Amino acid sequence: MPGKIPKDFITELLFRTNIVELINRRLILKKCGQNYKANCPFHDDNTPSFTVNKEKQFYYCFGCNAHGNAIDFLIQYEHLSFIESIEELALMHGMNIPFEQTTQHNLYFKKQTLYLLMQKMCKLYQENINFTNSAKKYLSDRGINKKMVDFFLIGVSSFNWNEFCTKLKINKIFEQELLTHNIIAINAKGYKYDRLQGRIVFPIQDHHGRIVGFGGRTLNNILPKYLNSPETYIFYKRKQIYGLYQVKQKCSKPLYLLVVEGFIDVITLTQYNINYVVSSLGTATTSEHIQLLFQNTNLVIYCYDGDEAGKNAAWQTLKKALPYISETKTLKFILLPNNEDPDTIIRKEGREKFQKRINNAITMSKFFFKNILKNVNLSSNDDKFYLSARALPLINTISSDTIRIYLRQILARMIGILDDDQFEKFLYEKEIKKKYRSHFQIKYTPMRILISLLVQNPSLSKAAPEIVKFQKFKLKGLPIFLEILQTCLDYPNINTGQLLELYRNTKIINILKILSKWDHMIVKKEIQNMFLDLLTNIYNKILEARQEYLIAQERIKGLTINEKKEIWSINKALSKK
Ligand code: UTP
Ligand code: MN
Repeated sequence: MPGKIPKDFITELLFRTNIVELINRRLILKKCGQNYKANCPFHDDNTPSFTVNKEKQFYYCFGCNAHGNAIDFLIQYEHLSFIESIEELALMHGMNIPFEQTTQHNLYFKKQTLYLLMQKMCKLYQENINFTNSAKKYLSDRGINKKMVDFFLIGVSSFNWNEFCTKLKINKIFEQELLTHNIIAINAKGYKYDRLQGRIVFPIQDHHGRIVGFGGRTLNNILPKYLNSPETYIFYKRKQIYGLYQVKQKCSKPLYLLVVEGFIDVITLTQYNINYVVSSLGTATTSEHIQLLFQNTNLVIYCYDGDEAGKNAAWQTLKKALPYISETKTLKFILLPNNEDPDTIIRKEGREKFQKRINNAITMSKFFFKNILKNVNLSSNDDKFYLSARALPLINTISSDTIRIYLRQILARMIGILDDDQFEKFLYEKEIKKKYRSHFQIKYTPMRILISLLVQNPSLSKAAPEIVKFQKFKLKGLPIFLEILQTCLDYPNINTGQLLELYRNTKIINILKILSKWDHMIVKKEIQNMFLDLLTNIYNKILEARQEYLIAQERIKGLTINEKKEIWSINKALSKK
């Protein structure tokens, strides 16, 4: 719901943000002349077609036409909403958002309160370890050292809420807040209780390190073994990766991410100096998880138990991931011996051997065919048909052309297509043509070029002559030009990204975005001259039109004194041409 945040605040936020830094933290940008380039994160890109321009504070992909300012980038890349992306930038700069209206403001306020409460609870759980011998014993029995307890902020809840309050000196006001925000609950008899009571508590952190929820493991075999706090405005399980914050503290662009199933697995592997370990929260892999993982690394290695359930989970994950793999983003699998998990196996076999398992992880394509060939007899024609009927729809979900065709090649060989023509046909037949929608093209007109020069170089506004004299003329595009010109004058030093932001959700935003990407191929120092020339030409055109009109009027019914004065001054102006 844009408009609820003051526009000036957003302009200020964009002023403080450097889009190059923002993107560079997420992609590998290379300087290239005035711009920065990268392989486009929004389509399968082999050449760097993704360009970031520092001066304009704008990005643009020549391949798939993705474009926008810092806010658009966060919306597109991190799948944030408009408000969330403003929140992200505000947090980056330590600014509070001055919401104008109540609904959004309330939600924002609620979220801030939740973060604070979670933070306080986390501290209390941590402190409570000192009071809880069973927790200390549990952690030491499981071989989790103090360093890991601190690094992962591990804590413990009490079996009894009142006891917890007394030990940790929790006052009634705080208790009430916890109730209001549903962090603790109240039963039918009116007793307050902690949902995670009697559990070792694993705080779950977002990428800023803020605590968004907790996972809890029972200390006394009460079922369920693991329990997570309920979802809230700040806690979405489908989107949460446990341990990613810790990984990123050690390395901002990890070579790979190893995804294991449990909290304890993450902690034990980290303790054994296996790097880059994360986990989803006991939920099946979602496409959000996969996208988030690929935003942080190029190689995701999933580690599952080698039993049937584990293999099946791996297969489901692979199917989910197919649309997101590409030449650069790949997936591998580790299947552990039956009934082992990373926690148990590394304690048995040690770091070196586990590292070998990582190095020898099964590639995506190998795992794909291993699975798809299960129960298939390649000497039977029926089976071959069945194989291709099963494999092709999956292969077709891969958006990367190269990988898709590569897998089709392997499949073709398997089912014994040897004839060149047939092979060719098989590779490309029914090939989903995912051509990007041809970019919306519009004609170059002097007015559009003028607007586009201004949008791309807002400082030109200062060079433009008095604008009032243009106002009364009717000419296509003129009102937009004057509108933009006025905005540029109102906001000195505004850049392209900020300018476009001011027009988000207005009728003219689409045309402005197209114009902001036009490449005029003019050397920098000539831009202003070109702008002024165009402006003069357009102005003269307006005058000529007016002159013709007045001359016609004179013939029909004569002119008033004012009109005569006007035609005289037009003649004078045009004679200077
Ligand atoms: P596991 O049952 O494999 O547990 O569940 P584990 O990690 O080996 O636990 P330990 O070693 O006995 O302590 C793996 C993950 O699945 C989720 C949790 O996130 C757990 O870490 N899970 C498991 C649940 O959410 N609920 C459950 O009841 C069990
Ligand atoms: Mn385990």
